[in-house]
Amino acid sequence: MSNSIAIASGKGGVGKTTIAVNLALTLSQMGSKVCLMDADFGLANAHIMLGINPKKTIRDVLKNNMAVEDVIETGPHGLKFISGGNGLIDILNIEKNSKYQLIRSLDPIERNADTLVVDIPAGASENSMTFASAVDRLVIVLVSEPTSFMDAYTFIKTAKLDYNLHNFSIIVNMAENEKAAKETFDKFQNIVGKFLNAHLTFAGGMPRTKRIQNAIIRKLPIVLDKEADFEKVAFQRLSKNIIKAGENKHNGIRFFSES
Ligand SMILES: Nc1ncnc2c1ncn2[C@@H]1O[C@H](COP(=O)(O)OP(=O)(O)OP(=O)(O)O)[C@@H](O)[C@H]1O
Ligand SMILES: [Mg+2]
Repeated sequence: MSNSIAIASGKGGVGKTTIAVNLALTLSQMGSKVCLMDADFGLANAHIMLGINPKKTIRDVLKNNMAVEDVIETGPHGLKFISGGNGLIDILNIEKNSKYQLIRSLDPIERNADTLVVDIPAGASENSMTFASAVDRLVIVLVSEPTSFMDAYTFIKTAKLDYNLHNFSIIVNMAENEKAAKETFDKFQNIVGKFLNAHLTFAGGMPRTKRIQNAIIRKLPIVLDKEADFEKVAFQRLSKNIIKAGENKHNGIRFFSES
């Protein structure tokens, strides 16, 4: 049976796509068969970070009835990649069924992938929440800023109250060091604990580094950079913690499950 992991946040620009791309590649390097889907249908950009120019996107599945296997690109370390394509947001916003159709259209992937990683758009919109609640393990990316705290809190509140999710794995990105990341997590957990009965686990911190910042310009994901052992080790630690984190088991629509 395959696993699914979503990378979400409240606030935009906190590093979701950077983390989704490098997490997917790290799991591939660790020997898993991984498929990454860019679900940011308004502003899909994971392909740019991966240095891939996709010929087909999920749009071809939804609009042109193409099989999902026919839009998959192969990236480094055998990573399978489904590009979000742009301009789909209107179809998805209007038609609830197209979101469900999209989730079900990925079912055939389960035969050839151990893990699906989904890059979720910022915010707690219905689109974001539908895809975030359709995975086994939900990861929230946080940075140490009040706006990020507030938006991540709103996301968790919506996920808990409206979608019945209980387990959240937290990554503190752009941290000064691991100690500062843990302090940020503790502070956030304290706030969440006061108002919501949600279970948060600390997946780890990711430092703010010049190399990660430059990776996007070079279109070379940081974990593929031979000079970036420090970041590579940090991504390996995050990956192991995310896989160990609690699952959200509910009866709503899920990837790879017909329930
Ligand atoms: N740990 C880090 N160190 C340095 N720069 C980082 C780090 N993480 C992300 N960045 C940079 O921050 C910017 C935003 O990252 P990214 O696009 O991954 O965020 P996002 O949450 O996916 O944004 P959006 O909400 O627009 O989808 C990028 O330029 C990226 O290179
Ligand atoms: Mg993004």
